[in-house]
Amino acid sequence: MSLQFSEKGEEKFQEIMGRYPNTMAALLPVLLLAQSEFGWVSVEVMDYLAERLELHPAKVLSTATFYTMVNKQPMGKCHVQVCTTLSCALRGGYELLDTLEERLGINTGETSSDGNYSLSEVECLASCGTAPMFQVSYSDGEIEYFEDLGETGRLDAVLSELNAKLATLPDPRKMHDERRN
Ligand code: FES
Repeated sequence: MSLQFSEKGEEKFQEIMGRYPNTMAALLPVLLLAQSEFGWVSVEVMDYLAERLELHPAKVLSTATFYTMVNKQPMGKCHVQVCTTLSCALRGGYELLDTLEERLGINTGETSSDGNYSLSEVECLASCGTAPMFQVSYSDGEIEYFEDLGETGRLDAVLSELNAKLATLPDPRKMHDERRN
């Protein structure tokens, strides 16, 4: 059985194609769409996109491997990305990262065994005025910023919010199989 976009995903695919002058220009947004549809961008997904876009598979592979926001393996339902560039570092970014390792029970660069969380250290996310902060990429394709995390009690509130959201998010490890026809 082969992979296929959902009906809603196919609509979005057509909408993206209408916005760009050629398929190569549309590749990055299509890769991000595929990530939200299939959970992560495997070689099988790259082959599917190469066929849909009529591009050589090597073009898809080189673009997918260039961008770190394109996941080449399943990540957690919540991918927490902590900024440790200067403004965040000066206002507790590394301490935030250490606390998250402790609270999530994983090291930076790892995914929890239940598939709920991944933790990464990233460069400036252009929210320096509200440092320290992190971005969460959800498995449904949405992205959210959480800022001013040095304030007392703020991190606890954010983690409670994320834990409550987990039940509503698809598991990236299972999404390929849900999209086979
Ligand atoms: S330094 Fe962290 S958002 Fe810019």
